[in-house]
Amino acid sequence: MKIGILTAGGDCPGLNAVIRGFAKYIYNQIPDAEIIGIQDGYRGLINGEFNKLKESDFSGILNIGGTILGTSRQPFKQMKVEDQNGESRLDQMVKNYKKNKLDLVVTLGGAGTHKTASLLSDAGCNVIGLPKTIDNDIWGTDVTFGFHTALEIDTECIDRIHTTAASHGRTMLVEIMGNKVGWLTLYSGIAGGADIILIPEIPYDPDEVCNMVTKRYESGKAFTIIAIAEGAMSKKEANMKKAERLEYRNGEATATNRLAKYIQENAGVETRTVVPGHIQRGGSPSPYDRLLSTELGSFAGKLVQEGNFGKTVAIINNQITYNRLADVAGKTKYVDEDNQMIKIGKSIGISFGDGKK
Ligand code: F6P
Repeated sequence: MKIGILTAGGDCPGLNAVIRGFAKYIYNQIPDAEIIGIQDGYRGLINGEFNKLKESDFSGILNIGGTILGTSRQPFKQMKVEDQNGESRLDQMVKNYKKNKLDLVVTLGGAGTHKTASLLSDAGCNVIGLPKTIDNDIWGTDVTFGFHTALEIDTECIDRIHTTAASHGRTMLVEIMGNKVGWLTLYSGIAGGADIILIPEIPYDPDEVCNMVTKRYESGKAFTIIAIAEGAMSKKEANMKKAERLEYRNGEATATNRLAKYIQENAGVETRTVVPGHIQRGGSPSPYDRLLSTELGSFAGKLVQEGNFGKTVAIINNQITYNRLADVAGKTKYVDEDNQMIKIGKSIGISFGDGKK
């Protein structure tokens, strides 16, 4: 059996731990199987960049961040676009899959990766997906690997911001990754003790945010910590088209700087922004992510053994299971307004910027 494996989209801690868990399962349970590393995600499948891996390649990588296979972003929109020879990237991938006599391909990635994996599966390739992302936005799984490590990093950021904010009596905005969803901001905001949490799923009112900052100031708490998702937006921005929004933000990709300026001018407090950026995706996976990654990776090996393709591995209510790729592709797992953590946050006085208690 010849198995291709690739990691696609933005990297995250835990990718190598999943690769290792999968490979060790395969070498132990299907000893005659061969594992082929596909370089830099779907780009390697499009260009036929394949490397035969040895058992020793999977040793010593459990605690290493990033991915030994390399990764790239290949926009889904371009997958079916034909070149001058009438061949699309999807056609090229299927051609390379067949030419290299792969029996299946294992794809580790986020929402976009799952959409392409589903296309490949529909085109006749055997595919097994694995849910990677710090954003935790993959539909059909309670958690994705990488999320918990990023949560620890963001929580530490918010912890550390507290002392400098308190010393200077400042309002500090910590901008947290997550693309269009607020999982990482919500969880790290609660875990780090933020006073205001702003997520894309709940558009905020800037005046409401200023009121909260002022109220805290008046009650003797001179500092305020705001955990703001990179995808957060004000109620006004939420009704705008993307180009209009960028113009309104004066070219800024995120709302953070605009809101910081608004707070400084309207609440009259010194305000700073902090952007941990790609630090949130770097370094060694947490013990939780190492365990989860090993579970998910070895379960993918079990699916291979059973010949159960066209699926992606998931964890639901602490049970490792799977979904059909076709059911996951194109869907996003957003934070519901009645999420338990939002309710808890509101019950202890955290503001979500919408004026609702
Ligand atoms: O999907 C992971 C993620 O880190 C998002 O949170 C963020 O919006 C995006 O990737 C950043 O992408 P890039 O690494 O391409 O700048």
